[in-house]
Amino acid sequence: MDENLSVGIMASASQLSVNGALISIPQASISPTNGGREGSRGILHRDFLDLLHMACSVKIEVRECSDAMMDCIVPQLQPDVVQIWIQRLQMPSPIEPACYEMLSDEERERAARYLVEKPQNDFILTRGRLRCLLASYLGTGAREVLLRQAEHGKPHLDRGFDLRFNVSHTDGLALLAFVRTREVGVDVEKIKAAPDARRLAERFFSVRERGFLKDLSGDDLHAAFFRCWTRKEAYVKARGEGLSLPLHQFDVSVAENESHALLATRPDESEAYRWILRDLPGIPGYAAALAVANTLSE
Ligand SMILES: CC(C)(COP(=O)(O)OP(=O)(O)OC[C@H]1O[C@@H](n2cnc3c(N)ncnc32)[C@H](O)[C@@H]1OP(=O)(O)O)[C@@H](O)C(=O)NCCC(=O)NCCS
Repeated sequence: MDENLSVGIMASASQLSVNGALISIPQASISPTNGGREGSRGILHRDFLDLLHMACSVKIEVRECSDAMMDCIVPQLQPDVVQIWIQRLQMPSPIEPACYEMLSDEERERAARYLVEKPQNDFILTRGRLRCLLASYLGTGAREVLLRQAEHGKPHLDRGFDLRFNVSHTDGLALLAFVRTREVGVDVEKIKAAPDARRLAERFFSVRERGFLKDLSGDDLHAAFFRCWTRKEAYVKARGEGLSLPLHQFDVSVAENESHALLATRPDESEAYRWILRDLPGIPGYAAALAVANTLSE
């Protein structure tokens, strides 16, 4: 890729089209060459070019889990490939007993603490499927997989393993993401009427994100709201910090089919180069987003 890629500076987010995918350019990654006014030109930072390179080379494979497949045969997970598994969460589910069998004693205790059947069922199916897939990636038994929890609750494997994963569940569906040596976060939400979208945006979204939503209404507003929400959550989950990461300290794009949706991070602007944040299309009725680190983890 050209190391001195020159781009036009626009008042709204500048975008590049790479291999047919639209990529938003964080403002901090453009050095203006002649004043930085709208319509003038600038040079893209080296770090952002690295991110573009990674964004173009990372491959996302989405697969549906089958009910007949409790032995979970997984394809080889190559470097720079993110495998996403979709687990439908119906109730009753034919795989619920097999999923329960895979849970650790601690997870069974957690399952028993749910007072409502639906979230209990969703937890058992998602955690059971997670164990089943992890066991297959690692070549071990599902109950032998040792899951640890980081400071803010993100589940992970022991340090010795290069496999990273993240899970999200919502009404009717769970997503499970796996990748080697890169931190990863995933989020999915069912798109529905959200009468309190503006109030929630006021509370959780940044000024810039609220600006993107300002002129939208009806179905367009609801879809954009869930795009924004899932992108923010995927990024927060990839970083593992949960809600200790202030949600106003970064901006995501709310445009459709975004290949790089992380527009700005504060106070460290270069954080925006460290993550690929994009939608997971092809899940009708749901908004889903994936964040993957640009750099390899230890
Ligand atoms: C816990 C949190 C990380 C995600 O919660 P969520 O969106 O409600 O739920 P999801 O289904 O997407 O993710 C839950 C899964 O993420 C994983 N998880 C838990 N803590 C995590 C963390 N700190 N980082 C990454 N993943 C985490 C777990 O696997 C969990 O599944 P489990 O409870 O079955 O073990 C956190 O971001 C949160 O509490 N969010 C609340 C929602 C909110 O206010 N969002 C504002 C968005 S703009």
